[in-house]
Amino acid sequence: MRIDILTVLPGLLHGPFAESIVKRGIDKGLVEVHLHDIRDYTKDKHRKVDDTPFGGAAGMVLAMQPIHDAIVKLKSETDYDEIIFLTPDGERLNQGRVNSLSLCGNLLMICGHYKGIDQRLRDHFVTLEISIGDYVLSGGELAAAVLTDALVRLIPGVIGDEMSALTDSFQDGLLAPPVYTRPAEYNGWKVPEVLLSGDHKKIQEWEENEALKRTKKRRPDLLEGLS
Ligand code: ADE
Repeated sequence: MRIDILTVLPGLLHGPFAESIVKRGIDKGLVEVHLHDIRDYTKDKHRKVDDTPFGGAAGMVLAMQPIHDAIVKLKSETDYDEIIFLTPDGERLNQGRVNSLSLCGNLLMICGHYKGIDQRLRDHFVTLEISIGDYVLSGGELAAAVLTDALVRLIPGVIGDEMSALTDSFQDGLLAPPVYTRPAEYNGWKVPEVLLSGDHKKIQEWEENEALKRTKKRRPDLLEGLS
């Protein structure tokens, strides 16, 4: 997979991609992440990348020219499956969307700032608008980092134990069951007996039941679509 990210703050993304799972995916050659600074594309002599909105509303909008030139150049070099704009008014991200995007070869992510980007760029280039939740971030960078992380961990070979991504919360529409590790008793707190029994069928039943209980209690909305 190749991910290109257009941003005015590439520095915000160096950290998240230099650690852990995303770094592992990059090091193994399973994903390429390329950061593009929108400022490198501006023709403004003061390197300005924003402008005031028509209509007189407060705040600033990322200017047309640098983003337009950047998208046109990147599109001429790569055939993108999706051009994603990270925005709080986009489709709310969920595991189903992450699963389907993880099958893509090339993605371009555009990070908004200030009041966002000119609507005409959204109309003519963006194919998917994603929000990572009902709250407003200062820009799309952290959302792009979240989406990239969620995608990269699904690419076969990135996570060592192949089963592990499949047993995450949401992969079967339920939250994950509780997990325990050694020692079996700590401070007088005991691990549920069944997990020590070695009876895989019973353990699986217990895990399914716990996952269901937890989902009913914390996220009953997830059960509404399931019969
Ligand atoms: N940019 C600002 N807030 C955002 C959000 N919640 N999701 C995606 N991009 C954003």
